[in-house]
Amino acid sequence: MMRNTVSDIWKLYKKGEKIACVTAYDSTSALLADRAAVDLLLVGDSLGMTVLGHDTTIPVSIDDCLRHSAAVVRGSEKALVVADMPFMSYHGSSHEALKNASRFMQESLVSAVKIEGGEEVADLVKKMVQGGIPVMGHIGLLPQAVLVKGGYKVRGRTEEDEQQLLKDGLALQAAGAFAIVMECVKSDAAKRIVTALDIPIIGIGSGLGCDGEVQVMHDILGLNPDFIPRHAKKYLDLAEQINGAFTQYKDDVKSDRFPTQENWY
Ligand code: KIV
Ligand code: NA
Repeated sequence: MMRNTVSDIWKLYKKGEKIACVTAYDSTSALLADRAAVDLLLVGDSLGMTVLGHDTTIPVSIDDCLRHSAAVVRGSEKALVVADMPFMSYHGSSHEALKNASRFMQESLVSAVKIEGGEEVADLVKKMVQGGIPVMGHIGLLPQAVLVKGGYKVRGRTEEDEQQLLKDGLALQAAGAFAIVMECVKSDAAKRIVTALDIPIIGIGSGLGCDGEVQVMHDILGLNPDFIPRHAKKYLDLAEQINGAFTQYKDDVKSDRFPTQENWY
């Protein structure tokens, strides 16, 4: 099976077909999302929270992202795999940033990387693309900037902020980004920005005007028993089901109901 390329993503965009994206962090979940024909798997640095137990994406290292990205590539056949570059891995010299980005392409074998930011990263995006690395932009709410912004804040609430987001989007497009994630931007502003741009805009919490949607796997599967963000929908309550299975297993072991004769050699 031929893996999706950035051209396949553009084809969907040009046809007006919504682009379905979900995060994945390991080979099993990658395989399952891939078999459901999700178009793009994002190895988000949200893995800091979903699999490593951190409170934010800030403690996530480049080695964390490389290892999980490689697992997602191994688990999937068809979906385009995009890896997040983590906190401060693309803010030093452009030489260092390009070297870090190359590791995702050469060691994890992903098809593209994603970095947060707009105008301020456009020069770097251009260099990456010139070097042969497809880049996905990320504008709006930027989780890696949570400490300097003093929290997670919805964007595009004012005319001024909308203009900044538009400038950021245009700069990324001009630099050669193949698509942009737009996180938690007011839906009316998001719609106008999408209309002004000619590359696919993948929304999360930004409304139906976007060209596709990305969600964190743990949110849509209901894997977090304690929290569901407004932008997500629980398609399953896996936390509940898994808890039931573990409880039954534990009770069976304690009462000798498991294993039974057919389970031993
Ligand atoms: O890290 C992540 O999961 C992301 C998506 C939510 C866009 O960046
Ligand atoms: Na991310």
